[in-house]
Amino acid sequence: MNFLRKAYNILNNQKLFSLYDKFFCKIRTKGFLGLINDSYFKKLIRDKKWLKASKVGEKLVSQYHSDINNRRNLARCYWELHEYKLASKALKLDMSLEDIVLKSKAQIPVATEFIESKYLNLGGKKNLGIIEHKSKLRAEMYYTKISLKSDNEKLFYKEIYRTFGSKIQSITPKILSINYIEQDNITLVTTEKVEGKRPDTVSRSLLDSVIRINNVITSIRYKDINNLIEQPDFNTEFKLFSDRKPRNPRVLLKSFIAIHKREANEKLFRLIYERMHKLQHSIESIKLIKRLESIILSSKIYEKLEPEVHYSILHGDFGKDNLLNNRKEEKLYIIDWGSFRTGPSWVDIVNIMVNLKLSFTEIKVYYLSNSEAYFEDRNIEQIFFLYTILVAWFITMSKDEFDKQHENYLKPAINYLEDLILTVKYS
Ligand SMILES: Nc1ncnc2c1ncn2[C@@H]1O[C@H](COP(=O)(O)OP(=O)(O)O)[C@@H](O)[C@H]1O
Ligand SMILES: [Mg+2]
Repeated sequence: MNFLRKAYNILNNQKLFSLYDKFFCKIRTKGFLGLINDSYFKKLIRDKKWLKASKVGEKLVSQYHSDINNRRNLARCYWELHEYKLASKALKLDMSLEDIVLKSKAQIPVATEFIESKYLNLGGKKNLGIIEHKSKLRAEMYYTKISLKSDNEKLFYKEIYRTFGSKIQSITPKILSINYIEQDNITLVTTEKVEGKRPDTVSRSLLDSVIRINNVITSIRYKDINNLIEQPDFNTEFKLFSDRKPRNPRVLLKSFIAIHKREANEKLFRLIYERMHKLQHSIESIKLIKRLESIILSSKIYEKLEPEVHYSILHGDFGKDNLLNNRKEEKLYIIDWGSFRTGPSWVDIVNIMVNLKLSFTEIKVYYLSNSEAYFEDRNIEQIFFLYTILVAWFITMSKDEFDKQHENYLKPAINYLEDLILTVKYS
């Protein structure tokens, strides 16, 4: 069975579609020993073979219930086939997709007869598709995201965007409206469409733009917004990862909210050692972590952290997936505020640097020594930035990578951190 699955994937990946298609199309649309996979489905969509694609999509959706990408792609086929009720069913929505499109169209500042709207799947993890609105009169385009992160996205736009609009508008597409649909617990977020692509290469100018975006986000401090949104829970238990996604730094970065407390730091190191023993990390790696632990716990540096001073709003999902690089305008945009929250102001930048797999030298040049980077309390924030990124490397790297990357990652970061601690101690 495994062998067949592998052979099938190789065939798909090597683009032997056309040949393969002629002989096996029937078997594949019907599903062959349950071996159907989504690359064939995507190809049919690219070729705009909507009817055929919908048949394959139905099969896929019935096999992999929770795959949101297949569901959106199937809805896209039904949209093109004018089967709006089926499109809603594919998305598990009560409201018809046609009504959702009409509702979103009404938010556009152009008479509806001059707008062409269509349903698209542009990826992402927490949405049921994007509705594209094209003005027939002007060049403008608008996007409505059918968001599943209803509460958070609503909160961000209603409270933060409203109050700090001029700052946020400089880094994110302009918002037109937010409409909550209670029946389906979804939110329609309508914004201007930004031309641009996810960045695929990491350059100095890209990093400078990332830092400028981060400066804007972190300039909205915790003390400025704690009357607008609920206070975060500082009693959060420290967690390294969720079993479902053990290499994703998300859970870890969320628990850094309690890092100003001794218990959080102690628990963090306990969890790291447990995992190191379980994965049988090298003695060298354990020694380096012990060094980090001793620097942090014996200096009691966490006592110098105060949410009112060191915390700010965070984007919460600051990675390549949510950046759009417009080369014509030479401007980088951040989208998708569905995970926004408050927390230590260095956490978003850790997330993106881990996401971009930057080495310590790159981090030093692009961020720590970059005069463009804004720090409210330079040394403390740099210490905690390094501490956080060291733990984030531990989570995101495989055991072998972590054990072999001492020279480029762990050692120089710990050395630098040690020097910084000394400056704080004797200042
Ligand atoms: N205003 C916009 N301009 C251009 N593309 C957008 C815009 N909003 C969303 N997108 C596209 O839609 C995708 C999904 O949107 P996103 O807000 O990241 O959803 P999710 O919350 O599911 O991650 C993005 O990766 C991007 O390609
Ligand atoms: Mg996203």
